[in-house]
Amino acid sequence: MSRLLVCPPDYFDIEYEINPWMRRSNTVDRVSAVRQWHGLMHVLERKAGVVLERMRPVPGLPDLVFTANAGVVVGRRAVVSRFRYPERQREEAYFEDWFRSAGYDVVTLEPEFFFEGAGDLLGFSDCWFGGYRQRSDIRVFPLLSEVFTQEIIPLELVDGRFYHLDTCFCPLSGGELLYFPAAFDTDGQEVITERVPDGFRLVVPESEALRFACNAVCVGKYVVLPAGCPETEQQLQSRGYRTHALPLDEFMKSGGSAKCLTLALD
Ligand code: ARG
Repeated sequence: MSRLLVCPPDYFDIEYEINPWMRRSNTVDRVSAVRQWHGLMHVLERKAGVVLERMRPVPGLPDLVFTANAGVVVGRRAVVSRFRYPERQREEAYFEDWFRSAGYDVVTLEPEFFFEGAGDLLGFSDCWFGGYRQRSDIRVFPLLSEVFTQEIIPLELVDGRFYHLDTCFCPLSGGELLYFPAAFDTDGQEVITERVPDGFRLVVPESEALRFACNAVCVGKYVVLPAGCPETEQQLQSRGYRTHALPLDEFMKSGGSAKCLTLALD
C-alpha cells in the first residue's frame, strides 16, 4: 500500500515568480484550484488505492502544496529540503516538523547545499537520478548517496522550463522511463540511454512535455497525469498501464502538476 504526503491548497496562489511558469498577474482561480486538487486526491485514493497523509496548510506559504519538494523519504529516514529561493525556504521548518511528528529519523543538510527533495531525486529501486543546476546543487548527491547507500547519477537540467527533475523525468513501476530528452544535456541523455534499456524509454513529445506529461504519479500499473497528453497516454497504455488524466491547470500556473502535489512516503 502506497502512502503519499499531500497539503490542501487553502493558501495556494502566485505571490512571487521563481520559475518561468509563474506570473503574478496570472491569478489563481481558488474555487477551481480546490476542485482540481480534490479531484486528484479522489483518484489517488479511490482508483489508485493510495493512503494520503494530509499536512496542515500555512497562510503565506502558497507553494506548500508542492509536497514533492518537502524532502526525500526512504524507509524511516527523511532528508529535509534546502530550497534555493528564500520564498520557499520558509517552508523547510514546516516540512521538518511534519517529518518529526510522523516519527521519521530526520536528516538535515548544511544550508548551502540546495536540495529540493523528490522533485529532484527520482529513480528505480536499483538506480537513482538527481537533477541539478536549476534548483538542487550537484554537490548534494554524493552526500545523499552516503545517507542512503545508493548510487545517484546526476543529470544536468538545461531548460529553465523544466527546472525540477520531476517536470521532465518519470520512472515507472515496470522499469520504463517517461521523459523529455531535450531537458537534459547530451551527457545526461547518453547516461539515460545507457541505464534505461531500449524499449523502456518512452519519449514524450515537446507539446505534451510542456503540459507536464512527465509530472505523473505512478502507483503500480496506474498512472495519474495532467489532461491534454493523449500521445503519452497511448504510450503508457501500450505498455499495460491504466491512465487517468485530470485537469490541473491552476497548478501549472505555478509550474507544477500531479507529481509535484505528492510525496512518496515509502
Ligand atoms: N512554484 C513552485 C516552485 O517553483 C512549483 C514547484 C513544483 N514542484 C515540483 N516538484 N516540480 O518551486
